[in-house]
Amino acid sequence: MVMVSGTKIGEEIGTGRSEVWRLVQQLRSLGVEVEGHPATGYRLRAVPDLLLPDVLEPLVMGTQFTQIHHYYKIGSTNEAAMDAAGAGAPEGGVFLAEEQTAGKGRGGNPWHSARSSGIYCSVILRPQVPPSDALVLSLAAGLAVQSAIRSIDSRLKPDLKWPNDVLIDGKKVCGILTEMNAEATRVRHIVVGIGINVNQRKFPDEVSETATSLLLASGSVWSRVELVAALLKSLDREYRDLVATPGDHDSILRRFGEGSSYVRGRKVRVEENGGFEGVTDGLDARGFLRVRSGDRVRTVLSGTVRPFVG
Ligand code: BTN
Repeated sequence: MVMVSGTKIGEEIGTGRSEVWRLVQQLRSLGVEVEGHPATGYRLRAVPDLLLPDVLEPLVMGTQFTQIHHYYKIGSTNEAAMDAAGAGAPEGGVFLAEEQTAGKGRGGNPWHSARSSGIYCSVILRPQVPPSDALVLSLAAGLAVQSAIRSIDSRLKPDLKWPNDVLIDGKKVCGILTEMNAEATRVRHIVVGIGINVNQRKFPDEVSETATSLLLASGSVWSRVELVAALLKSLDREYRDLVATPGDHDSILRRFGEGSSYVRGRKVRVEENGGFEGVTDGLDARGFLRVRSGDRVRTVLSGTVRPFVG
């Protein structure tokens, strides 16, 4: 790329050289690699992999997810999306952040959300369904993540752990937190929050044994822009089919079972009602996990499921 003088850039955008210098400094603080200074002119060395609406929107054209909101730093994209949905924001809004300072995981756990290394994404949905259908929607989001990862690197074999984790080589690469505002019989809105570990090289001590990233699993750096675009496209396909086709509910349960090594015949420990061990025995019609424990089959409603070696 060529060197361009500050004066020339200033003319293009209708400002002076000193303002151009200020803007260049601002771009650098955001991670854009710009070489040079006012005396030499400037050269763009590398554009960072930021999840900017202007970059993403053309890539997801034709889906329902073209209303993209981007934050450099936010508490939680799920909180932002829930607030916006509560204030009447339409279905299809996407909230993306480079960094979360209070990322939320399931069960009140934090979600580590280091700057620009992961994907922190929440979408607003307004399906006309009873609250009991939210679980299937959440399982569908797991399928969408699995297929987005495979579409970019078919060598990876992401596994689904009920209800919402995506694992590679037994370690967690993605978590999904689905939150809902509902009446007893009717959903008002749902926010599906997806956290994907993309380019992390290491993790905080508390999760270093159990977490992995796409970089660690594949050995190369991933484009987060490409992955978010693939994710929104596969989420769009899953969601459209789910709301348009009555039989799609069963197709999601079947495909989740096929894409998961946990759904059937797996020895697990379930952290629910004091905890118990058993062997998984498929999903019930609503998407809850069945576990055979002794001579009875128990239905896991919300507990954490872990592989059990014993
Ligand atoms: C889990 O515990 O497995 C769920 C993690 C969900 C994390 C995502 S990151 C984007 C969205 N915003 C949040 O605060 N949480 C979800």
